[in-house]
Amino acid sequence: MNKFTYSYPTKVYFGQKVVKKAFDEELPKVGKTIMLAYGGGSIKKNGIYDELITLLKKAGKEIVEFYGIMPNPTYAKVQEGAALVRERQVEFILAVGGGSVIDCCKVISAQAVLDEDIWELEYNKGRFPTSGIPVGAVVTASGTGAEMNNGAVITHEDKLWKGGIFGTPASFAVLDPDYTMSVPPMQVLSGTFDTLSHAMETYLGDSDADNVSDDVALAVMRNTVVNMRRLLADINDIQARSNLMWDSAMAENGILKAGRLTDFQVHQIEHQLGAYTDCNHGQGLAVIQPIYYRHILEAAREKFTRFAKVVFGADTAEAGLDELEKLIRDCGLPTKMGELKSIVEITPELLRQVADTCNIIKSGPRELTRNEIYDILNEAC
Ligand code: NZQ
Ligand code: ZN
Repeated sequence: MNKFTYSYPTKVYFGQKVVKKAFDEELPKVGKTIMLAYGGGSIKKNGIYDELITLLKKAGKEIVEFYGIMPNPTYAKVQEGAALVRERQVEFILAVGGGSVIDCCKVISAQAVLDEDIWELEYNKGRFPTSGIPVGAVVTASGTGAEMNNGAVITHEDKLWKGGIFGTPASFAVLDPDYTMSVPPMQVLSGTFDTLSHAMETYLGDSDADNVSDDVALAVMRNTVVNMRRLLADINDIQARSNLMWDSAMAENGILKAGRLTDFQVHQIEHQLGAYTDCNHGQGLAVIQPIYYRHILEAAREKFTRFAKVVFGADTAEAGLDELEKLIRDCGLPTKMGELKSIVEITPELLRQVADTCNIIKSGPRELTRNEIYDILNEAC
């Protein structure tokens, strides 16, 4: 095991109808002025907005609304939110949404109390925020696990870069699987594939033998696949939604990363593809991941064989990857670049730029060259 420090800042309230208990316990601890942050309006259609507004008003809070946080949130939206927090002297930020809303709020929180530009601070000076306006998260779409970590993924449109940035972790998170029931089926499955990727990309990083983190990652992957298959039989299976909601949090709450390094090369490629195309995160992963795995198979044959056996009950590394591809097809997730929703045409020149700008990971099974990344992207066309 590598050295690590582990502490947990986020108190989790999990289960159907837990929001009242969560708010009763948590809201008295925070200030009066609360920023209610959300996305494009799904929470107004499914009743979550009304329910939360009622509870916040009952708790005597003053509500400042911040909405329109888009999927793949932009740095401009972060700055807009931080300006509003300062202007209205917001004392607590309640992020209500999926990974995009939660990520945006984690960075708004840190930016709001900083005199300097947070991007400049982190990317150019290598320093990280140490304080922020407290944040709470109500998860309405699961998959990213954003509610249980302090990392965020933000698109800086001027720099054509989508990348990780640290913000403030939520002090509490409400995970009610009922809240996810109105998520469109394709987004539900994209989210589950994201979860699977997080566990797999962690598992493929450098780790010493018999590391418990490997075993836990395999268990999370196996459970995710079992419940994805349950959703294919019945997309409204609430037990499966519950299991997947916790799988999602488990995959990104740091437990799997304790004492080991991680790979995350596919995420790095997908994030840059997202910077150029604004494609859906889970769907971008589904297109790139199997191709990447076949490229690096020989460098991690033992791990892929174990993955095949534990997650899919398959005998060989190759058979495990066949099963993974079958799962992607069964879910109706895209397998080719052309199937991704993109704001621009995906051309060879664009893919070259993605390959030339994405981060290259050194702690995965094998370090890729930029030409190989370009080949992987082209194989997906
Ligand atoms: O904006 P609204 O109207 O709410 O609609 C959203 C959005 O269109 C909709 N949605 C959410 N909850 C809903 C719902 N629709 C109906 N009913 C509900 N209950 O779903 C759409 C997608 O939402 P989004 O938050 O973008 O999805 P997701 O949770 O997959 O988050 C994706 C973002 O998270 C980042 C991704 O890169 C991407 O930007 N990630 C964050 C990570 C982290 N912080 O740890 C790790 C991940 O690897 C990932 O990179
Ligand atoms: Zn992800």
